[in-house]
Amino acid sequence: MTQQDVHHSTHAAEIDARNDSLKIYVNGDIVPREKAVVSVYDSGFMLGDGIWEGIRLYNGRWAFVDEHLDRLFGAAKAIDLDLGLDRAGLLQALDDTARANGMTGNVHARLMVTRGIKVKPFQDPRLSQSGPTIVIIMEHSTPSSALVETGIRLHTVPVVRGLPMSQDPKLNSHSKLNCILAGIHAQKAGADEALMLDPHGFVNTTNGCNFFIVREGEVWTSTGDYCMNGITRKKVIQLCRDEGIPVFEKNFSLTQTYDADEAFITGTFGAQTPVSDIDGRSIGSGRIGPMTQKIRTLYQDLITRHTA
Ligand SMILES: Cc1ncc(COP(=O)(O)O)c(C=O)c1O
Repeated sequence: MTQQDVHHSTHAAEIDARNDSLKIYVNGDIVPREKAVVSVYDSGFMLGDGIWEGIRLYNGRWAFVDEHLDRLFGAAKAIDLDLGLDRAGLLQALDDTARANGMTGNVHARLMVTRGIKVKPFQDPRLSQSGPTIVIIMEHSTPSSALVETGIRLHTVPVVRGLPMSQDPKLNSHSKLNCILAGIHAQKAGADEALMLDPHGFVNTTNGCNFFIVREGEVWTSTGDYCMNGITRKKVIQLCRDEGIPVFEKNFSLTQTYDADEAFITGTFGAQTPVSDIDGRSIGSGRIGPMTQKIRTLYQDLITRHTA
């Protein structure tokens, strides 16, 4: 599978040949992509036992990095993992990797931390005795402009968001099987991404991004229960409040969603990506709508100010 084959997904980026020769951070070393490997005994590989953050670099500065690091350290505490580096150490690792790749902007970093190498291939976390494995993959990354034009297609799937007492959906865990299964279901139905419901049947989120609708000038998103506490989601809500755009975190149904004027999804990678149709129903005009466009512009301005 090449980059072209997945051109119509929420994380579709313009093809960039420089990504074939990246340098990748692995536990303090910055090595060529083909030499960037982890052990088959690594608990991340073996069990999905780790956490991660997706962070973007604009104008030589990491956008909302404090919030990303807050979320990472919060997740580390939740899974009882000592990251082995403090905030300054992680920032240094991000900056060193960017410098090694000559990167200053249009860059997406995936910072991953696992519980590290196990002495035996079993689940018990005490078997991970090497200390954590930290990897940073940093790519040249310009989100596909075609996606903003055409929007993405969603399909509602039977895989629901979990309750917080099973695997809290707020944890940015390596094990994303729930989301992956949702995505597979949507793709088999001919869509790009899955629309996921909460355990009560209210519309919640997609498998990889947060979800918003626009109805009669109001912006709605789920209550925030059962979905990732997305940083982009939070920024969109705050921007709406600052601009006097009515915004609500509330329960809403699929019926209200099909009939929305606009729908869009949010994430660090694509910012705000319009949704063209859901379950074969065209949303609004099927193209990016005025509110989505306005919020995209407000968010771009925020990034410009924040990374100036
Ligand atoms: C399931 C899920 N939803 C939403 C998001 C978007 O979060 P953010 O806006 O912080 O990138 C992510 C990204 O990590 C995610 O994995």
